[in-house]
Amino acid sequence: PGTLPLTGRHMLVTSGPTHEPLDPVRYLANRSSGKQGHAIAAALAALGARVTLVSGPVTQPDPAGVTVVRVETAREMLAACEAALPADAAVFAAAVADWRPAAPATQKMKKPADDAAPPMALVPNPDILATLSRHPQRPRLVIGFAAETERVIEHARAKLARKGCDWIVANDVSGDAMGGAENTVHLVTAAGVEDWPRLPKAEVAARLADRVAEALA
Ligand code: C5P
Repeated sequence: PGTLPLTGRHMLVTSGPTHEPLDPVRYLANRSSGKQGHAIAAALAALGARVTLVSGPVTQPDPAGVTVVRVETAREMLAACEAALPADAAVFAAAVADWRPAAPATQKMKKPADDAAPPMALVPNPDILATLSRHPQRPRLVIGFAAETERVIEHARAKLARKGCDWIVANDVSGDAMGGAENTVHLVTAAGVEDWPRLPKAEVAARLADRVAEALA
């Protein structure tokens, strides 16, 4: 009595987009708001966990009782996640940029005199979820997200295997999940698929936190 289910546990959560610089004033990014990831960090903390939230640039307030590490790029996010280990479980809710400009300019790029567009070579970013899933200090439970617009379950199952994680929270983003207040998700594990109803993101977070607590118990 008096002890919460995740007391004494350390949880790592990623959230938000990453910003990949092109020059000192320009970057590549995406529309992730960080709402779902921040809500998950808050829900895990509410169950008593010590939570490290590694967040890209967002306007969400820091969840109460959570240690927030702010980063900009995918490479900074990976380094911050590795520095946060060991953790009992990790939830990778960030929308990490798949590519970054190969050689960011150190000065603001100038418009070429002939009005041509400058070339923009991209290189792949590290996959944080896949890296942590195969890490020597892998958390016992590793959870990834999969935003899909079609064949949601099939793609999520393939992602489980490819990334080496334990669960995938697959969300159907054919509607308005990115930036919206609600989410329709399917929890995909080796044991099968659970379809959850459309819920406010805080409710999705609370249910996921309960499942994490059960799995670690
Ligand atoms: O590769 P894809 O974007 O489809 O997979 C999504 C999942 O992988 C999410 O959990 C996301 O946080 C994670 N991811 C990551 N690092 C990347 C790309 C995706 O951690 N570079």
